[in-house]
Formats: sequence, structure tokens, C-alpha cells
Amino acid sequence: MNLYEEQIKKLSHPPLPKRRKEEIQNLVAELLSKMTLREKIGQLFQTAPNDAHIEGLRFDDSHGTVQYIKEGLCGSILGVHTPINAYQLQRIAVEETRLGIPLFFGLDIIHGCRTIFPINLAMSCSFNPELIEKASSVAAAESAHTGISITYSPMVDVVRDPRWGRVMESNGEDSYLSRILGRAYIRGYQQDDLSGNQAIGACVKHFAGYGAVEAGREYNSVDLSDRQLRMNYLPAYQSCVDEDCASIMSSFNVIDGVPSTCNRYLLTDILRNEWGYEGFVISDYTSTFEIMNHKITTDAKEVAKLCLNAGLDHEMVSNHYITYLEELVRENQVDTHTIEESCKRILTFKYKLGLFDNPYKYIYHEPEQYMQLPEYRELALEIAKNSIVLLKNENQVLPVQKNKKVALIGPAALTKNVVGGWGGLGRVEECVSFYEGMKNSGYDVIAHEGCSFEGAEHDDQLMEEALRIAAEAEVLLLAIGEPDYLTGEWSSRSELCLTGRQLELVARLKLLGKPMIGVIFSGRPLDLTWCTDNLDGLIYGWYLGNETGNALASVISGDYNPTGKLTMSFPRRVGQIPVYYNQLPTGRPSLTGGPRDLFKSCYTDIPNSPLYPFGYGLSYTTFNYKNLRLSTNCIKGLEETVVSVDITNTGRCPGKIISQLYIEALSFSVSRPVKEFKGFEHTYLEVSETKTISFVINREMLSYLNIYNEMTPENRTYRIFIGSDSSTSDYQQLEYKE
Ligand code: BGC
Repeated sequence: MNLYEEQIKKLSHPPLPKRRKEEIQNLVAELLSKMTLREKIGQLFQTAPNDAHIEGLRFDDSHGTVQYIKEGLCGSILGVHTPINAYQLQRIAVEETRLGIPLFFGLDIIHGCRTIFPINLAMSCSFNPELIEKASSVAAAESAHTGISITYSPMVDVVRDPRWGRVMESNGEDSYLSRILGRAYIRGYQQDDLSGNQAIGACVKHFAGYGAVEAGREYNSVDLSDRQLRMNYLPAYQSCVDEDCASIMSSFNVIDGVPSTCNRYLLTDILRNEWGYEGFVISDYTSTFEIMNHKITTDAKEVAKLCLNAGLDHEMVSNHYITYLEELVRENQVDTHTIEESCKRILTFKYKLGLFDNPYKYIYHEPEQYMQLPEYRELALEIAKNSIVLLKNENQVLPVQKNKKVALIGPAALTKNVVGGWGGLGRVEECVSFYEGMKNSGYDVIAHEGCSFEGAEHDDQLMEEALRIAAEAEVLLLAIGEPDYLTGEWSSRSELCLTGRQLELVARLKLLGKPMIGVIFSGRPLDLTWCTDNLDGLIYGWYLGNETGNALASVISGDYNPTGKLTMSFPRRVGQIPVYYNQLPTGRPSLTGGPRDLFKSCYTDIPNSPLYPFGYGLSYTTFNYKNLRLSTNCIKGLEETVVSVDITNTGRCPGKIISQLYIEALSFSVSRPVKEFKGFEHTYLEVSETKTISFVINREMLSYLNIYNEMTPENRTYRIFIGSDSSTSDYQQLEYKE
């Protein structure tokens, strides 16, 4: 054990005082009064040493982090997640600087720290905020033993373009769902109070509109009307503000020509003045520097001025603030008050975390013992099962009986690399592969890669071998899709097909004439038209994290009856993108839905509808909705009405259904989406059982930003729908009067 390890071993972690807001305000004011301008500016900088380089005692400080800290020129650290490294840096901040202000440490813990949950898009398909809150509290508990004090999560960007690799980090295409799930993540990370020893800060990203990058191309620009921004993109961030998220990250993109990172309209007018946000805003990695690439200025000093004056508090990685702010103050180009306000927000966060009470709060000896606890793995399995979406089940090819001889074929069959993008501190060896899961569940299964994800020379040989194995089997399970490294940041794709030669493999297997079930590994909606037409069963398996194989096997065997519902519409072809459920109507609607509906809004070659709509997902049983009714068909002002429906399990096994509430305005002063998602409910039903579910409809749910920029339902007629996905057509009519 080296010297630092010995010191860490002696650290204690008593419960920290939960301080009231006023108390923290006073403490911050007192500290600020002792700080020089330079020290205040120092708090606004986050540097990113290379964690691997500073491991142990071999402190390779090529980024100059230690010097920054010693000079009081650094408020936080990005990317350090080994307690020993965090300890060394924190010790310098606390013991070797004039005021001993502790650092905080940020990392992207996106879908789990060491226990890895499904990718976020998959988890959103559970429509289950309680499970997501539990998962993020586990992520926080593990992180809180490795030195990490804030995670750059949740990402609540609304996404409509699956070409964008980062859809995997999102809650899908709907802002109402993202509002609910975003809050659940924050509650899990931050728990009751940030001073808790297992609570860490949440940073909501990417503010704003990053999910609308043009053509799905990473780091591209965004152009949204204010109405579109406010109705579809901003509500998810705002609800995270309401949940008191510690921080918000500005996005890389421009909006209406202005980079978010120096966008005063977003960072001050909306965030501070309209929403009353009190936490701090951090830039995304080098996005301050990129303002020059956006051609807003050629002058690095001006970058500092633009960002500070726009409302950006903390600069990630680029160092314009510490380089230029003092000079800008001397030149009267920025105000010391603005710097103080930003510094105040950073210090407030540190006080809230309790870092002034115990700067080593998150630093533990042998953190391993706090990771991967059995109850964490159980939760990972439960969420993984809830994230799986059954897309097709012809002739009830699923579930597959355990006495059947199964061949599991495809590049995802044997791999344990199922962590998915942004895998935190997850380890491949701790994942259960698809094959292992099938074995664990008692199947007589033979697995083969069949071909590579990429398309390689030896694919011919692999295919031949796989075909030989398949010939012996009764059922073919296909583990196909896209590799995990093609999803996440910097992973835009122009095609959404199965990668490499997988389609050729599947087409050749089909010639064997056996029942075939496709299990798709992916971080985004892929183009599944061919698979839908040619396979008997289709399961969307995403990247499900540690418990991938066990979760898939439980669905395949029927031990778990699938419940997941898609949160992004699946296109029929790439050319149909963006396709999403809440599109605006058109002046020439196609009654047939296309194709070739003369002079109507449609394609000549495919229908307008998506292959699978938002909210879609099958079960092994069937459900029937009947008797949709309203308690009253006309409401005024703040009056409410209750919409109810009876659901019956009409199939052959018990099951759970996630019912969805939609509204449609028949007219309005601006064109409104053809449907708007407003609520959901999980209902478990035994065979032949009927239950009634209800939703309250109020003024707020009917409101929309009208032509005078007022949120109002106007005096209009609405249709109220409840169904099992967004294509539901059964409605009741409601009149609203102010
Ligand atoms: C990503 C952010 C992330 C940050 C820090 C950036 O490249 O856009 O989402 O939080 O890096 O890792």
C-alpha cells in the first residue's frame, strides 16, 4: 500500500450536515469576501487531466492540472474517477492553496457507473420512472465511492433523427416522456439532499435543442422556430430545472445562428429570468473555443466576454476565462459582479455537496466492495427486461420452448461487449452475453458469430460454418444489428441498415426454411423493413448492459412477458427521416397514407406511416380497449374531465400493458401536432381480467403556444385518445371554453 492509499484508508465518512439555503448563502458570501478576483475566476474553470496518466504515484501532469490547482485557477476536474487520483488533486486544493477551496469532480455516468443498465433510449422504452430513478440512485451510489461528485446526465434532448448516434443517450422523440424521465434521473442521482454521502450532482444536457442537429450529423447546426423550441424541446430541460438539477450543460450547436454556449437568450432570458434557475451552467467540452469555428468571432478574448455575459458560469476544458477575464475586467468589458455571480453558483454547489465539511466525501479505500452489489445486478436485470420491445411475433413463434434445439447466430451472439456507448466504469467481463444468458436459462443452444459486424474477409467461412450449425437446429435466433461503437457521440450514420454482410447472412439462413427470430442489438432505430417482411419474430434488444443475455433469454423463453414500448418511431427507409408521431398536419393530407396518392402529401414509393410508431410494442398476450368515455364532454376554465377506458386481457397469459393518452386539437390559431402524448399508465391483467384506467384532463394539458404566444387551450374542440400506441384511432370529443 503506498502513502496515499494509507491516507485514504484513514478517511472517515460521517453523515454531513444538511444546510439550509440561507446558511449556504451566508457561507458563500463570507468566502467570496475573502477571494481575489483571480481566485474567483479560477473557480470558473474545469480542467481535464488524463486519469490514466496520473494513476498511482506516477503523476504525469502534462495538462498542468497541479499548477492550475496550486494557483487557485481551477474549480473542478473532468474525467478523474480513481479515488487515489481524486484524493491527490483534492489534497492539493485543500492543503496547498490559500483558501483551501475543494474541487468537484465530473464524469459521464450515463446508464450506470460500474453496474451497467441498458442504454438510456432502451430504458425509456420501459416508460418506468420508478425503475429509472432506482437505476440512477445505484449509479450515484457507485460513483460516490470513486471520487465522482457530479455526472453529466441526464440528456433530455428530444430526438427525431436516428441517424444521430446520440439518440441512444436520450428518452426518445417525445418531450412529455423526457420531462418525466429526466426528473426521475435527477431524483436518483441527487437523492433527498446533495449532502447525502451517496448523492451526486446531476447535470442536464445539452441546452438546448442539440437533438435537432441538421441531417442527424453530429455537431451540426440547429435551426428551430421559437414555437418548436418552446413546445417540443425546452419543456424537458425546464422540468429538470423544476427538479432542482445542480447544473446544466450548454450544447455544441447554434440555435437561430447563435451558439448555445454564448446564447444570452437561452442562458439568461429563458433559464434565469423565465425559469428562475439557480444552479450553474457549464459549457460542453471545448464548446467555448468552437465559437470561433462558428465564425462568431476570430478573437479568443471575445469568446470569454461573450460567454460570461451570456450567462455561462463554468468553462469545460478550454481556458478562455482564466486567460482573459482579468484583462476584460480591467478594460471594463466585463463586470466583476457577473464573475462573482458565476463563482457564487459554483461555491454554492460545493457547499450543497458538503465538500467544505468533508472534501474527501467521495474518496474511499478499495471502492470495489461498493460496486456490483447483488441487488444492483437484480435491478439491472429487471430494467433490462422492461426495456426490451417485441416488434413482431407471427404465428406465435415466441416464446421458444426450452426443449427446442436453438441455433444462435450473428455477430452479437457470443460477445460480452454489450455495455453500449457511454459505458461509465463498466467492464465487459461483467456482462452476460446473449449465449451465456440462453445457457443460464436452460436452453440447448449452439452459438456462432455467422459474420462480423464490419464485413471482413473471413465472413465467407463464418457463414458456411453458421449455415451448417443452423441446419441442425429447430429454431434460429439471430443476434444482429450494429456494433456498440457506432452509437453514441460522433456516431452519425447515413444508412440505418444492419452493418457489414449481416443481411446476406440472414437471407442465406432463411433459405433453410426454419422459424427465424431476429434479436436486434442497436443504439438507435434501424431500418427493419426487410427483417419485418422476412423474419417470423423480431425483438428489439438494444444494448442492455450487464444483464443482456439473461434479460433476452427471459423474454425468449416467456419467463418474462415483454412490456416495452418504442419511444422513437422506426422509419421504413432512411429517406423518410424525420418521421415522428407528433408531426404537424399538412394542407394536402393523404387519406390513403400513400404511396402514390396523387397530389397529396406522400411518397411515391412507401407509405407515410413509420414501420413501427411511437408507443408500439407487443406482448405475448393481447389486450382489448373498450368503452372509452369522458365524465363530461365540455369543460370551462380550470374545470377537469376524466377520461376512462376498460382494458381486457384477451390472450392466453397474464400480461402488462402500457396504455397511452393522446390529444388532438381539431383547430387552433397555429397548426398543432396531429397528436400530443399526455400520459401513460401500466396495467397488469390476468387472463380474461378487465380493469378500468382513467386520466384527468385539465386546461394545462390542452394548452399550446398560440399565435399571440400565450399558453392556452383557446375555445376549441379536442379529441381524446387512449390506446396501446400512437396510431390509436378511438377517441372521444371534448369541448373547451375559457
Ligand atoms: C459531450 C458531453 C459530455 C462531455 C464530457 C462532450 O463531448 O458532448 O455530453 O458530457 O463531452 O465528457
